[in-house]
Amino acid sequence: MAPLKITVITDTHYYSPETGTEGKAYEAALMRSQKLLGGSREVLQAAFDKIAADDTSDILLIAGDVTNDGEKCAHEEFREMLRALKAKGKQIFVITATHDYKEKCKKYVGDNIDEMPGLLREELYDFYAEFGPEQAVSSKPEYMSYVVQLPNNIRLFALNDDRGIEDGMYEWVKEQAEDARKNGQFIVAMTHHPIIPPSPMYELIGKGDMHRHYKDRRKEYADMGIQFMLTGHTHTHNIGRIFSDRGNAFYAISTGSTCGYPAPIRKIEIDTDSKTVNVSTETIDEADIDTNGLTLKEHLKKQLIGVISDMIKAAGSDIDTFAYMAVGISIKPKLVYRFGWIIKPIFKFLNTVKFSTFAAWTKKETGLNKNDIKSIKDDKVIDFIISLVSNLFSGENNMDLTDPKCRIYIGFLRIIDSILSTLHIDLGKLIKVAPDAVSLLAPLAYKGEFDAYNTNLPIFDYVDEGSKRDAPKTEDPFTEIPKSKKGPAIITTGVLSAVALLPLILLLLLFGFINNQITYGKKIKG
Ligand SMILES: [Fe+2]
Ligand SMILES: [Fe+2]
Repeated sequence: MAPLKITVITDTHYYSPETGTEGKAYEAALMRSQKLLGGSREVLQAAFDKIAADDTSDILLIAGDVTNDGEKCAHEEFREMLRALKAKGKQIFVITATHDYKEKCKKYVGDNIDEMPGLLREELYDFYAEFGPEQAVSSKPEYMSYVVQLPNNIRLFALNDDRGIEDGMYEWVKEQAEDARKNGQFIVAMTHHPIIPPSPMYELIGKGDMHRHYKDRRKEYADMGIQFMLTGHTHTHNIGRIFSDRGNAFYAISTGSTCGYPAPIRKIEIDTDSKTVNVSTETIDEADIDTNGLTLKEHLKKQLIGVISDMIKAAGSDIDTFAYMAVGISIKPKLVYRFGWIIKPIFKFLNTVKFSTFAAWTKKETGLNKNDIKSIKDDKVIDFIISLVSNLFSGENNMDLTDPKCRIYIGFLRIIDSILSTLHIDLGKLIKVAPDAVSLLAPLAYKGEFDAYNTNLPIFDYVDEGSKRDAPKTEDPFTEIPKSKKGPAIITTGVLSAVALLPLILLLLLFGFINNQITYGKKIKG
């Protein structure tokens, strides 16, 4: 049997031009967005053209957040695009999510935000009935979820989780999974919210954004025989895997937003004969929008991190510009002016410090010599930090320990862990998502277990209740960077110099404060 190839996109966030594409109010909304608003229609059209032209896959899955924020006109326009694609021979299966319903939506007109109608949650299932529910072999309209029979004995579970998986729905999923297993069907499921976090950092910041009860649910799904779950919401591109206590495997494959960097289209090729799922990624490289001379990828990357990166640069050089930009992320100018005198030197340091400094600090841990760091010593650390933010979304965290920057980064995290342990601070107890700084932050740079873009995933045989299989062992990838012993020395030096320099520090702080009051006094008062 030839493998079945499925196309997956998610978080299309279709933005209707009717919502407004110019003016101050729109610009402010765009500044806070990591994906496109205006222009998303053209990028989606480019994606649909690409999908239509691919004759190796006739099935398209869309895992929720189909519109910008539930606007009625966005749903209507988007559905027309889906109908046009369906007319070209594609079967399309859609679930909706939390950005797809709202009573009153925002409309940007000049300096003001007006209202426009949205679709209600109760209207959505019927609205997209032709894209899944009408083809279902079993459905639960009250939970906006359905099951579809695909070729090759594959069953698609389309599970809306915008209110979590309620008890009645959980029972139905369990029954459906049992039925599929009994009938020799391989299950592929899609839901919106992440079940395995793309990074411990995401779990730390976005715990409330995870699939409800994700820690138990993923094991329960694995034991139901649901091995592959396609997710969205995070706008990140990532693949994770866990095993249930019984030893059943569960893969969570998260796909980035179609109109955000890197504008991915996933292909999932299921080969139940050779027991592999081949996952690959294409990106949309061209669309009919003005990108100011940049490639579409560069343009989308600028939308993702341009604001952050410009703001970090301004914070170290020009407090007025920083205060203006910070409004975009809801920080009041008053606050920026009040603390500008502390913010500026910190960011000035961050903006200028080079890898050579960190290489010297971490020499003992990394074992790198002058020659090893020759090519990177003048690179700015801030650019590396910004790339970590973009990696979180794009899944381009593909460094390994042969890369000197990666070694220095891990070495530096080892020093932080040594300081924390000297201070008897148990990070694991505090944050609960990772035991130490290395486990929390290294994944932002270091390649994970699976390449987020292209990889072959083995299908594991199902382990029945009462049996047990050992999960494959995962090893600590950082053993060659030894644990740092610098903690006690750093703490002692820090305390001693703080005591010795206390008068000078106090004097400098006082001078900075007075100088700031004289320069920005009026702006602080507002
Ligand atoms: Fe989204
Ligand atoms: Fe979402």
